[in-house]
Amino acid sequence: MFWIKNTINKMQIGQWILFAVCLLTGVAAFLIGISDNIPGIILLVVSISSAFGVWVWNWHYPRKFWILLGAAVLSFPVGVILHNLFYALGIGASEYKILAAVLSYLEVGFFIIAVLFAGPAALTALIGGIFVSWKGISGIAETNRSYRRFIQSHPISDRDMLGFVNLARLSASGANLQPLKYILSNTEEKNQKIFPTLSWAGYLKEWSGPVEGEKPSAYIILLGDEALGNSFQYDAGIASQSILLGAAERGLGGCLIGSIKRDALREALSIPEGFEILLVIALGKPGEKVVVEDIAPEGDIKYWRDENGIHHVPKRGVEELILDL
Ligand SMILES: Cc1cc2nc3c(=O)[nH]c(=O)nc-3n(C[C@H](O)[C@H](O)[C@H](O)COP(=O)(O)O)c2cc1C
Repeated sequence: MFWIKNTINKMQIGQWILFAVCLLTGVAAFLIGISDNIPGIILLVVSISSAFGVWVWNWHYPRKFWILLGAAVLSFPVGVILHNLFYALGIGASEYKILAAVLSYLEVGFFIIAVLFAGPAALTALIGGIFVSWKGISGIAETNRSYRRFIQSHPISDRDMLGFVNLARLSASGANLQPLKYILSNTEEKNQKIFPTLSWAGYLKEWSGPVEGEKPSAYIILLGDEALGNSFQYDAGIASQSILLGAAERGLGGCLIGSIKRDALREALSIPEGFEILLVIALGKPGEKVVVEDIAPEGDIKYWRDENGIHHVPKRGVEELILDL
């Protein structure tokens, strides 16, 4: 139930439109008939493609679309072969009623996959993949919001964590000193040590932070190695942004936390002296919807949450940021 409510809450207007198209064309297809009826079949293909569109709407990572495309293209021949195989097995097993019924369900199931799902899935994957690739960095920058509620059960792999540090490693560094060090945490045990040392969303006075089930799945702690430098803030900002963009590209999200009980965190993880605690990046699969909106000049910059749990982030307009000097 929570999953359904959460999904509906997060659905955007475009998804609702596709959902309506899916229902209308689906009903129309069955009303005019889909058996040997080309208009009916076209309507059904549009309906199923729209359903796939609702599903992939929030995918921002091209690789996911290419995987779906590969699976859709493969599912056609595999579906046809398995359909014929189960048909033949069903004839052979006609004496055994239950087995014959199971085989005939499988036969029909693989027919539906091959004929009805492979095409719409491939079409959706192709359109979505091209669209997401074309949006590129600006699409990822839009997706890259500060998320503070996550699907805690969604794990973040060691491989992803190393990938994030690699993005930070490739980022610019003043005088190329590269003085940053990182502590990684993607286990429940270590996460539990970090969580109590962080402060969440100072403007949301009535909210004390994510509850169990919506806490981050991972953290990256940025440290300044005092043996290598003494000014870390610019490097930390750039490295953090690289990590967050990388997370957004993988369909994950995060939040920079600068408000840290530093002594408590140092003690909890036995961080030695000589490493300045700069920032913590909380990471996970976003479990909330965040929208950016324009603020009028002199408007309030405080982010807020509406009655549907949607987090609103007011941003100054571009024209306000540029000084005409
Ligand atoms: C340096 C820095 C420190 C931050 N510290 C915190 C923090 O301690 N707690 C928190 O909930 N958010 C923190 N944030 C997130 C900001 O509140 C967030 O970036 C801002 O509200 C704008 O939202 P957006 O990232 O979605 O554009 C921090 C952001 C930055 C850049």
